[in-house]
Formats: sequence, structure tokens, C-alpha cells
Amino acid sequence: MKRDVETIISEYPGTNRDSLIPILQEIQNEEGFISENSVVKVGEYLNIPASNIFGVATFYNQFRFRPLGKYHIQVCRGTACHVLGSKTVLEEIEKKLKIKSGQTTSDGKFSIEVVACIGACGLAPVISINGEFHAKVTTKAINDIIDSYKNLED
Ligand code: FES
Repeated sequence: MKRDVETIISEYPGTNRDSLIPILQEIQNEEGFISENSVVKVGEYLNIPASNIFGVATFYNQFRFRPLGKYHIQVCRGTACHVLGSKTVLEEIEKKLKIKSGQTTSDGKFSIEVVACIGACGLAPVISINGEFHAKVTTKAINDIIDSYKNLED
């Protein structure tokens, strides 16, 4: 069963600021992202202003403040994919969607995440969209791949 923010916080007795990162990690694991409401609750508990929490959490780019997009794009940055150009693939996706890795488009349709090797090195560079692999992607192919998901909406 999903644990709510209060339950997670209660598992960290005392108001130790060192608990901030593990608490945020657990909230993200449960909720998929960290809502403003969660930040406020954690801030009240640890006696840290919400703005400081956002600052700290933004520093660690593992945290997200919006839910994942309907289409979640994972870009592999493992060695094989890196060597074959995953960085430029990522840059192209970011340019196309006008968001950065770790963000979700304002219409909630797409989100991007950079991940470690997803076990398909023979297909490098590879991206996965909602678990569907796209092999040997090129910057040129990105446009069509993303449009194909956009078109599912029309
Ligand atoms: S390095 Fe990308 S799938 Fe293994």
C-alpha cells in the first residue's frame, strides 16, 4: 500500500536536517514526484523553509517536481550509448520538447529522464518511451519518433 507523506516523515524521528534527502527520495519513490504540498509538510517537520528545500532538491537532479509525462522518455547514458552519441540525442529531444532532462512538458504529455544502461547495448544509442525501445536512434530520427507519439493523441 502506498505510504503518504505523513507516514514517511514519521519514520524519521527527530528533526534532523540530514533526513531531508532520504525523506525526499522516499516521497518520490511513493508518489513519482515531489509535490509542493509535500515540500511544505517536510519543511514544517524539519523546520526548513520550503524555498531552501527546493534549492537543495534542485541541486540533486534526481528529484522531480511534476508528475511524469504521459509518455516518459528514458535516454540511456551507459557507456555503449554514450560512445555512440546519446548526449546529442538527448540534446535533440530536449530541443524538440523544450524541456530539460528531469522535466515534464507543460501539457503533461512528455517527460525526459537520463538513465544508466538499460540492458540493450547492442541497440545503442537507445531510448525507451513507456518501456518501448527505439534502437540506434539518430538526432534526425528524434523528430519522427516524438511526432509518432504526439500523433497518437490526434
Ligand atoms: S549502454 Fe545503453 S543500453 Fe547499455
